[in-house]
Amino acid sequence: MSDKVRVGVIGVGGHGENHLKSYTACPDTELTAICDLDEELLAKQAAQYSVGQTFRDFREMLAEAPVDAVSIVLPDHLHRTAAEAAFAAGKHVLLEKPMATTVEDAEAIYRAWKQAGTKLMINWSNRWMPSFAGTKAALDAGELGEPLYIYARLSNTLFVPTKLLSWAANTKLPFWLICHRLDIVRWYAGCEATRVTAVCRSRVLKGMGIDTPDFYQATVEFESGLVANLESCWVLPESLPSVVDSKFQLICTKGYVNVDPVQPSYVKASSGDQGPQLTMGTPLLGEVMGQPWGFVYHALCHFVECVRDDTEPLITGEDGLAVTKILCAIETAAETGQAVEL
Ligand SMILES: NC(=O)c1ccc[n+]([C@@H]2O[C@H](COP(=O)([O-])OP(=O)(O)OC[C@H]3O[C@@H](n4cnc5c(N)ncnc54)[C@H](O)[C@@H]3O)[C@@H](O)[C@H]2O)c1
Repeated sequence: MSDKVRVGVIGVGGHGENHLKSYTACPDTELTAICDLDEELLAKQAAQYSVGQTFRDFREMLAEAPVDAVSIVLPDHLHRTAAEAAFAAGKHVLLEKPMATTVEDAEAIYRAWKQAGTKLMINWSNRWMPSFAGTKAALDAGELGEPLYIYARLSNTLFVPTKLLSWAANTKLPFWLICHRLDIVRWYAGCEATRVTAVCRSRVLKGMGIDTPDFYQATVEFESGLVANLESCWVLPESLPSVVDSKFQLICTKGYVNVDPVQPSYVKASSGDQGPQLTMGTPLLGEVMGQPWGFVYHALCHFVECVRDDTEPLITGEDGLAVTKILCAIETAAETGQAVEL
């Protein structure tokens, strides 16, 4: 390997661009190649981020480009093929959340990863939010006692399924939103889920021709006795001040934490602003003194460090597979109205 970790990005759309911005600034990182089906977008991103090699086919990129590691930032339902190809080519992989949208796909990715013996990190980057990371540190220090109950809400306005994503009907809220909070819950629980009950309803989006449920509510029980109540909705009015609505309450045997990651600590509005602002207490990817700053940037730097130093990422394929099993149980429980035992 050269002195720097050479990284390629597969999928340079909405979130892929955050990967490009981050890798351009992460220490010891060289962004060498990008891949996307959309030729116009590919050319635009290559020029903007000074990337030397562009590909429309990720197999070609994996065979020809000088990359040690790749980010896979494809739509939720397309993660498996690219991940399997990347592992077959011996690359380290930063796989965007969710790991996959079926247990079968997640198991296939897991097997390919084990066979390759390279690094796999699933990008549940919310672990790098100071509020969630601080709560984990307080739990580990014994300040709060044992987790008893969690209420976690993470929702979007209609903007996301109707305007941001062209492929909303190919995913569901457990995979797009609930997975972020479920990863945090399981991280805090320190043990596995045992039982899931859930409900969902399809009305507003289905009526608009996007066949995916409007909301999910799930109750997940863990081995320790912890109960988590998770809910996500995709049909909040677009007139809300933020595209994201989030609430997280953790009740422990000796303490309580209330995290509201959406309430901005800093509000800026100008006459040139158009549409709703994605305000976050901690920016997904902001800028400080001309350098990227935010939980996505820090998560990606962590991945590069793990490749450079040959250490294990904080979130591996084990976590990805375990979370996928719970997400699919939520989907099944909501569809059948029956509890799912894990
Ligand atoms: N960690 C986070 O906070 C976070 C935030 C947003 C999105 N995501 C995840 O990132 C992934 C991408 O989401 P997005 O919002 O960027 O979607 P997007 O639709 O904006 O971008 C996806 C890109 O993939 C390209 N693409 C599709 N099929 C391809 C193929 N076979 N080969 C090459 N390129 C292909 C598309 O042309 C598009 O540019 C999703 O899995 C999503 O859940 C994660």
